Amino acid sequence: MTDNILEIESLESGYGEVQILWGINLHVQKSKLTTVIGSNGSGKTTLMKAIMGTLPTWNGKIIFEGIDISRLPPYKRAEQGLIMVPEGRLLFHDMSVYENLEMGAFTKRARAHLKKNLEFVFSLFPRLKERLDQKAGTMSGGERQMVAIGRGLMGSPKLLIFDEPSLGLAPKLVLEVFEAIEKLKKEGVTMLLVEQNVHLSLAISDYGYVMAEGKIKIEGEARDLKENDEVKKTYLGI
Ligand SMILES: Nc1ncnc2c1ncn2[C@@H]1O[C@H](COP(=O)(O)OP(=O)(O)OP(=O)(O)O)[C@@H](O)[C@H]1O
Ligand SMILES: [Mg+2]
Repeated sequence: MTDNILEIESLESGYGEVQILWGINLHVQKSKLTTVIGSNGSGKTTLMKAIMGTLPTWNGKIIFEGIDISRLPPYKRAEQGLIMVPEGRLLFHDMSVYENLEMGAFTKRARAHLKKNLEFVFSLFPRLKERLDQKAGTMSGGERQMVAIGRGLMGSPKLLIFDEPSLGLAPKLVLEVFEAIEKLKKEGVTMLLVEQNVHLSLAISDYGYVMAEGKIKIEGEARDLKENDEVKKTYLGI
């Protein structure tokens, strides 16, 4: 019996005729924070799209809770509990914080847990409760990111996926986002995190993968990756 919620085997995918992912093997353990790091263009976002189902699986398997989901459309994967945190700038700016959160509960399973999930979001981010009627577009950059994470949580995720949640944020806000992810980790939320901020992401993660040219080059416990010479030289600048 494995406690992997997600197991990716020999995954190949790409855009049109162009192959980007070349046989990815990756697993995510329940209640753990797993990170994928790698330079620009190494294929991280492409991998997340293949997992979410917005890009087709050409070859290989994506096993979620023991079931091969690689042929399922995105909404069915979401229904199974595979949820991506939207980018903060992609919130509905003219809608209130509450309405944005509510939209996160778009699956049947999530709607059934709407009240409980809302309470969970408020317990993590009390400020959102005070700002429920405020238009999302008038929230600060950091607050918007909390709304985005909150919206992801409203989807009742069994696995919550982040693609560069700290991108474009000022250093103080970057720290706030990482603190929020750490809080989720303490609550036992299973997460897959793509980040360019290798230093911070390895500091809070349990396990990590290093991608280059559409392949996994290195994997291991986050604490070991931090000490890995190649990771240090290429991604940590030390
Ligand atoms: N829609 C697309 N059509 C064709 N090629 C694409 C498309 N999107 C991305 N690519 C290519 O796929 C490769 C991997 O891109 P991807 O966005 O997955 O990288 P990434 O690791 O997420 O990079 P970044 O750190 O900059 O976000 C790149 O060579 C990119 O140019
Ligand atoms: Mg990307």
